Amino acid sequence: MRIGVPKEIKNNEFRVGLTPNSAAELIHHGHELWVETGAGVGSGLADAEYVAAGAKIVATADEIFAGAEMIVKVKEPLAVERRKLHRGQILFTYLHLAPDLDQTKDLIASGATCVAYETVTSASGGLPLLTPMSEVAGRLAPQVGAHALEKAAGGRGVLLGGVPGVPAADVVILGGGVSGANAATIAIGMGANVTVVDRSNEVLKRLDAQFGAAMHTVYSTRATIAELVRRADLLIGAVLVPGAAAPKLITREMLKTMKPGAVIVDIAIDQGGCCETSRPTTHADPTYVVDGVVHYCVANMPGAVARTSTFALNNATLPFTIALADKGWRQALRDDPHLRNGLNVHEGKVTCAPVAEAHHLAYVSAESVLAV
Ligand SMILES: NC(=O)c1ccc[n+]([C@@H]2O[C@H](COP(=O)([O-])OP(=O)(O)OC[C@H]3O[C@@H](n4cnc5c(N)ncnc54)[C@H](O)[C@@H]3O)[C@@H](O)[C@H]2O)c1
Repeated sequence: MRIGVPKEIKNNEFRVGLTPNSAAELIHHGHELWVETGAGVGSGLADAEYVAAGAKIVATADEIFAGAEMIVKVKEPLAVERRKLHRGQILFTYLHLAPDLDQTKDLIASGATCVAYETVTSASGGLPLLTPMSEVAGRLAPQVGAHALEKAAGGRGVLLGGVPGVPAADVVILGGGVSGANAATIAIGMGANVTVVDRSNEVLKRLDAQFGAAMHTVYSTRATIAELVRRADLLIGAVLVPGAAAPKLITREMLKTMKPGAVIVDIAIDQGGCCETSRPTTHADPTYVVDGVVHYCVANMPGAVARTSTFALNNATLPFTIALADKGWRQALRDDPHLRNGLNVHEGKVTCAPVAEAHHLAYVSAESVLAV
């Protein structure tokens, strides 16, 4: 199969769909790789590395979209890219179609077969192609939070780990799932006094078994959150209710009880955030202050560490990319019900129920498409 990797054109997107190592793996499987010139530069991956892996460097996105049987990307295609897709072509990338009617309509019109990273599932019930980005955002949260706590950044001038004779900072993490547990790992490593709050007893048990006395676990109620928020130097929002907006666990009233210069890193901002005062920010201007509390609400945190994120994403996507290339999309989706869940649009039909529901469009199951 001829696989094409265009350069990402979304503002401030530095990741790339395939690394040279992933390209080499696919070439080893007998496939042909076309990579747009400069596609990997934002992640520190030069054209020469792709050439060494056996890929062909192509001058324009137009050539990639016109010639490739499968396009592998990171972000959803922008309007200008969507116009280049065609019937019979596979698109494998993040799509997030439910809140995006324009894109949904364009993908329907394109006739392409669109498999979304974010709806591919795993046997354990997780979303394996979203997990690596939650890991990155979780591990980044104490790092950006520690920086925001510095005086020059508007924080209260507290060092996360303290020093001998001076106590460590109190870090409170709301949500102990993928991003919350990863945030805890780093915050503990930095020497902070860490408490994780979750509404799932299973999650609290798992964290207790993993971290032991290095961390406090607390069951989520309004009263316990109010108490912890008051004490926190750094509060990390890492909750998720799948398919729903993030619950507003920190009210404006609670914010007023926080210490001046305390910091909130709201990872859940991509689902609306878990504080009433959270609003999305960008890497160019990541923080703002409400009631003396510094808010960091960057919706694409992994973009700050594009190289790490590119490799983490590739580790998760590569087995699926190989399956799609080796078997063709039909057989690959027949063989793997989890990859099948990734099919969102095929030849003008919406094959993902939540997307169809969100836009009041007709839904056709992936199974019925495969039966043809
Ligand atoms: N900002 C970014 O750049 C970025 C990057 C990656 C992920 N995210 C987002 O981070 C959020 C968390 O993702 P995740 O992969 O860690 O999710 P996850 O499902 O692994 O974990 C979420 C946890 O929140 C808990 N929870 C739900 N409601 C709660 C409540 N009321 N009180 C306490 N705990 C509650 C759940 O029990 C679960 O353990 C998501 O919104 C995700 O989209 C953001």
